Amino acid sequence: MSNANSSSPSSVATNGEGKTKRIVLGVCAGIAAYKACELVRLLTESGHEVVVVPTRESLNFVGEPTWAALSGHPVATDVWSTVHEVPHVRLGQSADLVVVAPATADTLARAAQGLANDLLTNTLLTAQCPVVFAPAMHTEMWEHPATQANVATLRGRGAIVIEPAVGRLTGSDSGKGRLPDPAELYAVLNRLLRSGPTRGDLSGQHIVISAGGTRESIDPVRYLGNRSSGRQGYALARTAIARGAQVTLVAANVGLPTPAGAELVTVSSATDMHATMLDLSHKADVVVMAAAVADFRPLDYRESKIKKSELAEPDPIRLTKNPDILRKLVEKRHPGQLIVGFAAETDNVLEHGLSKLARKGCDLLIVNEVGADLAFGRPDNAAVILASDGSRASVPRGPKEDIADAIWDSVHSRLMS
Ligand code: CTP
Repeated sequence: MSNANSSSPSSVATNGEGKTKRIVLGVCAGIAAYKACELVRLLTESGHEVVVVPTRESLNFVGEPTWAALSGHPVATDVWSTVHEVPHVRLGQSADLVVVAPATADTLARAAQGLANDLLTNTLLTAQCPVVFAPAMHTEMWEHPATQANVATLRGRGAIVIEPAVGRLTGSDSGKGRLPDPAELYAVLNRLLRSGPTRGDLSGQHIVISAGGTRESIDPVRYLGNRSSGRQGYALARTAIARGAQVTLVAANVGLPTPAGAELVTVSSATDMHATMLDLSHKADVVVMAAAVADFRPLDYRESKIKKSELAEPDPIRLTKNPDILRKLVEKRHPGQLIVGFAAETDNVLEHGLSKLARKGCDLLIVNEVGADLAFGRPDNAAVILASDGSRASVPRGPKEDIADAIWDSVHSRLMS
């Protein structure tokens, strides 16, 4: 099966704070129910208590013994078992998080209508905690106006509905509708479990984030590139989704699994990224240029491989300037749109950062020191957030997800002002 989103559990962030949370996992009748087994394992192995509430029909895909064994808890689908414990109320009231994965079109419709005809929908109606739906279905069902209206209703009520991934579906067809990779779903849930007052604060915001490093072709085999891994941009996407945003990720040459819920657009060169970012930024509330963009590209692209036997001496590579995408985005921004840039510096970091902020004209500039052992390809980073109003905030060294959350805090306070 082809799956652009596959990743190994070893890439998963852990439940860093070591606090046990009570999670209800609703499972609906879709083939992707088997992927929820992996999600239960990731959640329990990181110390959380998971109660699985499958719909009756979902047991055709994965049976009750599997859920009981994986979660260590008894499993019920209706409200008539252990009635003395009042499970239809207790489960929702006592949960720290309710996740429905996979969520079918039918369950989204029942949840949007407020129906309470099984244990899962009762739990959804009594939940006092964040509720996450991870839909999985055929593309036609996902795109149907009825499903989209139900999704909008649920989002409007504060639920996080994670956009399905694109890829192979149940049959031989492909399209949007896959349940995201369980490790990536887990990563979003893990961020959500750690969030407090920031919960859902980016809901309704459409955010476009560029990530990775551009490659400028010399010939069909060779290119000029840089060391950016895309980790910071991907951490920004993951954390924004956990805070309720709709995220489009424009990725240049990134070899990481796609964050659950992000719409992925791949590009390679600065020219591609320029066209894509200008196109996508029209509809965005926030645009973040986290990508490392090549300032120059070879002036002459050679259609066939340059052979060393043809050259007595290597020819110098003549370069021409690439557009400054961040500046173009600032020039074309619409009222109310917020634009965030990054500055990767090796020396005089703050001084360069301040002059870059003035030169680029963006609202926030995230300044970080880069070098052989700093930032590039590493899971951690440190940064200073410079704002166009003259304020600044230092973010201490920590996981790139923590840097990302500090950036979203600054973005959120500006969106609210
Ligand atoms: N950037 C861009 N287009 C470019 C170069 C950079 O949009 N052609 C963006 C980057 O994505 C980043 C910001 O501009 O958000 C600063 O990038 P950086 O490489 O630090 O700075 P440069 O503009 O390249 O300036 P210098 O080379 O002088 O450091």
